[in-house]
Amino acid sequence: MSDMIQITIDGREIEAQPSQTILEAAQNKGVYIPRLCYMKGLIPHGSCRICTVMVNGRPQSACTTPVAPGQVVENNTDKLMALRKNIIEMLFVEGNHYCMYCEKSGNCELQALAYRFGIAAPKYPYLFPQRDVDASHRDVLIDRNRCILCGRCVRSSRDVDGKHVFEFVGRGPEKRVAINAEAKLSDTNLEVRDAAVEACPVGAILKKRVGYAVPVGQRMYDHEPIGSDVEAGAAK
Ligand code: FES
Repeated sequence: MSDMIQITIDGREIEAQPSQTILEAAQNKGVYIPRLCYMKGLIPHGSCRICTVMVNGRPQSACTTPVAPGQVVENNTDKLMALRKNIIEMLFVEGNHYCMYCEKSGNCELQALAYRFGIAAPKYPYLFPQRDVDASHRDVLIDRNRCILCGRCVRSSRDVDGKHVFEFVGRGPEKRVAINAEAKLSDTNLEVRDAAVEACPVGAILKKRVGYAVPVGQRMYDHEPIGSDVEAGAAK
């Protein structure tokens, strides 16, 4: 197609559709750009910065930056890998992530990224914040100790479910995901089938009564690193 756009990623020439972001164009060609707040089907938020790439020498988030003719993109460099690793480590110490006790272990994108980046233990001191757990809802719980503020639940509830169950409130260290009710999750119109429940990349929003339905050892990232489906050309 004549209106295709040519860019290079790590020296490799890639043809992209004009409507694509760098992350999407890369993914289409089997190039994995790490990400957390990005989710296919949602408007990109650009908040986690895990997907930071260099575009013509300047840092940009690949999930929000549209492709443009002649872009020279760097993705797999030592500097960017170190930057992403730092962000992942900061996310671990900023919350309370006890993977061995978390039902999401093995299916968790944050944990899987840590494995991919070879993080055994973060180099920063843990902050051990005190955060709420709301298990009032019949079918779903929210544990803010594990929330990484990716906003996938916020965007899913708003744009897919059409409900606005979740929203951000506060700033800086006080920022958190609030619910659209006076007090409890059970007072919202959230349903267990909602896209917002599926959207959580970590164990912050969990379905009740299905814990360990898939045994540890048989979960999504137990055998293959996160991103391997993209690199195998299986994720579009
Ligand atoms: Fe791009 Fe989070 S995935 S900023």
